[in-house]
Amino acid sequence: MKKIISIMSNSGGVGKTTLTTNVAFQLARKGKSVVMFGCDPNGSLTLFCGLDDPKREQTLDNVLHQDFDGDYPLFPVWRDRIQGVDACLGGLPLLETSQRLVLDKRGAYALSDTLEDYPLPHDYLLIDCPGTIEQLHITALAACTDILVTLKPEDKDLDAVAKLLEWISKTRKELRLKPPPEVLGVVPNGFKDRAMQRDNLGLSGIDGLESLPDIMRLMEIQIFPTIKDNAYVANAVAAGLPLGLYRPGEGINKIYEKIANSIIEGAK
Ligand SMILES: Nc1ncnc2c1ncn2[C@@H]1O[C@H](COP(=O)(O)OP(=O)(O)OP(=O)(O)O)[C@@H](O)[C@H]1O
Ligand SMILES: [Mg+2]
Repeated sequence: MKKIISIMSNSGGVGKTTLTTNVAFQLARKGKSVVMFGCDPNGSLTLFCGLDDPKREQTLDNVLHQDFDGDYPLFPVWRDRIQGVDACLGGLPLLETSQRLVLDKRGAYALSDTLEDYPLPHDYLLIDCPGTIEQLHITALAACTDILVTLKPEDKDLDAVAKLLEWISKTRKELRLKPPPEVLGVVPNGFKDRAMQRDNLGLSGIDGLESLPDIMRLMEIQIFPTIKDNAYVANAVAAGLPLGLYRPGEGINKIYEKIANSIIEGAK
């Protein structure tokens, strides 16, 4: 596997799962094979892939059990339209998984150990994380090579992202990850052209405001183009499709493609 990317935020509903499915589709468009892991008890990935709820033994919970035998419960995604995308789904069973991993001596490394023992044949793995930092985040962090962070350009989200970046930096040291996973970039999503959002994105032309691009430049973290709030993005998700299949001509697809390119170009 070339890269394992955790899609993280420190707030809910900011577009992680939407980003996961759309980037997976763009990678597949470029002939890459991709597997998405729904690492979230909310199970949104299932819906966003247009799949039915899996049975407990068909979820990521099974993969994160100590007695896992390497038979990943993978579901093909959008296979009638594109080749190369699979998903291993999350959902409610992951609430127990998370508690179990806290007590497990190698809980933090459960996924990383499994992927080492039973490698997947895909080029890329995208891990769709929950909206608040918890045990599943630690397990995803220990398994990944890179992190994509998404946020809404609101004050509260900017603050939450700063805390997430601090947590990543501290936790990857504590876990002694070698090499440590790097933040591949930050993706502002759901821009509504409001004054606070313009200020936070450095678009208001007022000097002296600390905007997200300024902070990311200081931290040497790439910031991707802003994804606007767009009804087609939401409608595509509701239809269980990536925007690239739902509305191929929509400009936002170019941003998802740019992120996919960045993943490929940086591939080790
Ligand atoms: N750019 C956008 N424009 C319009 N709607 C969007 C956009 N991005 C995401 N959405 C919608 O916002 C909702 C939340 O998105 P999504 O589920 O991807 O966020 P999330 O961060 O994964 O949430 P959670 O923390 O609950 O897992 C979804 O209904 C999705 O359709
Ligand atoms: Mg989600």
